Amino acid sequence: MSSNTHTVAVVLAGGIGVRVGLGIPKQLIKIAGKAIVEHTLEALNDSAHIDEVIIMMNEASISELDHLRTSGRFHKLSRILPGGDTRNETTQKAIAAIEGEDTKVLFHDAVRPFIDERIIKECVDALDRFDAVDTAIPSADTIIQINEERHITGIPDRSTLRRGQTPQGFRLATIRRAYEIAKGDPAFKATDDCGVVFTYLPEVPIYVVEGTPENMKVTEPIDVHIADKLFQLQSASLTLSAASGRVDLTGKTVVVFGGSYGIGHSIARQAADAGAHVREFSRSTTGTDVRSHKAVRAALAEVAADTGRIDAVIVTAGILRIAPLMETTKRELKDTIHTNLIAPAAIARESYPYLQRTGGQVVLFTSSSYTRGRANYSTYSATKAGVVNLTQALSEEWADSGVRINCINPQRTATPMRTSAFGDEPPETLLDPEDVAQVTLEVVGSDFTGQIVTVNVEAMRSGRP
Ligand code: CTP
Repeated sequence: MSSNTHTVAVVLAGGIGVRVGLGIPKQLIKIAGKAIVEHTLEALNDSAHIDEVIIMMNEASISELDHLRTSGRFHKLSRILPGGDTRNETTQKAIAAIEGEDTKVLFHDAVRPFIDERIIKECVDALDRFDAVDTAIPSADTIIQINEERHITGIPDRSTLRRGQTPQGFRLATIRRAYEIAKGDPAFKATDDCGVVFTYLPEVPIYVVEGTPENMKVTEPIDVHIADKLFQLQSASLTLSAASGRVDLTGKTVVVFGGSYGIGHSIARQAADAGAHVREFSRSTTGTDVRSHKAVRAALAEVAADTGRIDAVIVTAGILRIAPLMETTKRELKDTIHTNLIAPAAIARESYPYLQRTGGQVVLFTSSSYTRGRANYSTYSATKAGVVNLTQALSEEWADSGVRINCINPQRTATPMRTSAFGDEPPETLLDPEDVAQVTLEVVGSDFTGQIVTVNVEAMRSGRP
């Protein structure tokens, strides 16, 4: 049974992130459109088990977080205070700022944005039975001890070893007492807070909650790439778990460029079923060529004049021609780049003023070839990589304006465009455009930005009831 004790989460963001080496504190690196520390704050603020959040921020960059205080989104965020020179100094400053002997305090690294509700709950609950709690996972690698000559001096039994993560949680009086004793030790050295309790209050048992591999710490440059990918996967699974077709778009206006057939057509139909005013523009139905800025501008102006608002602009228009580059004409090359890359950029640009008024979003489409160029559709895969970068870049440029932008990455989908390029393929390996449309509308109904949401056959089939 969980008690009603006041529970404070402290976000440790006092460091610089020398090892990531990007020239800004790593907690400020933007992933999926938001600073890492903001993702972490979101998870703690949204947790049912946390009452108050305090951020301890690197003093030189503290003003970079002003917008978190004023955004109105984080009602549990009480203070943003300067951190200390070492991680332990940062936690001590936090301890000095919190009151109450019994208060439960969770210290969490700002650069572990994938903390989940289960871990938070187990840590908070464990503090009803223990005065100290750590979070850790088993080690897949064998851990060895070495000496200065780089000789192995020990190979501890892996089954007893764990890799420490955060949160580390304490009853306030316990961690305060541990640091008080530590202050009297001239040889004091620690890298975490459980270590301080372990050394200076050896009689206090420290319970260990099971962490997750996702709860990784962004430490080395490669971790930024891994974190980026985890956000993609996470958004995809969020979408799928919510995929119930219950998105309500009543009163909203959705514009689809390229909605005459395939995925665009399914989106237009499902958006209308969800209550939206839907306007569809394409070459075959309205004579709208997305390559023309003028045509796009006129289409949007017409919709805004009719319905008074635009909430989502979805771009499914695209061309895929299969041929080696040496057999591609200059004109085909230009057409592909224009339709697949310049048009989405131009549509985003023209849509922005309307979306700013509604806090709306742009949804673009990429292809699984964005991660790696494919022979025989080099230009297509290059434009699809470009669309992903466009999405990520604009999500950052627009972060403060409330305008969002996301990108759907449907894996092989049964569309006329695909069939004309690749011929008949086994139907069970292809996505149904209706499924892709459903995920797209889930994204329209979400608060995602900067996300590349992958939709694949297995996830759709297993994610369905
Ligand atoms: N931290 C802190 N105060 C410090 C140092 C670190 O609050 N004086 C925080 C970091 O901001 C980070 C967490 O402790 O969220 C984990 O520390 P680490 O990964 O070592 O971060 P940095 O010290 O920033 O990284 P580096 O060692 O590469 O400089």
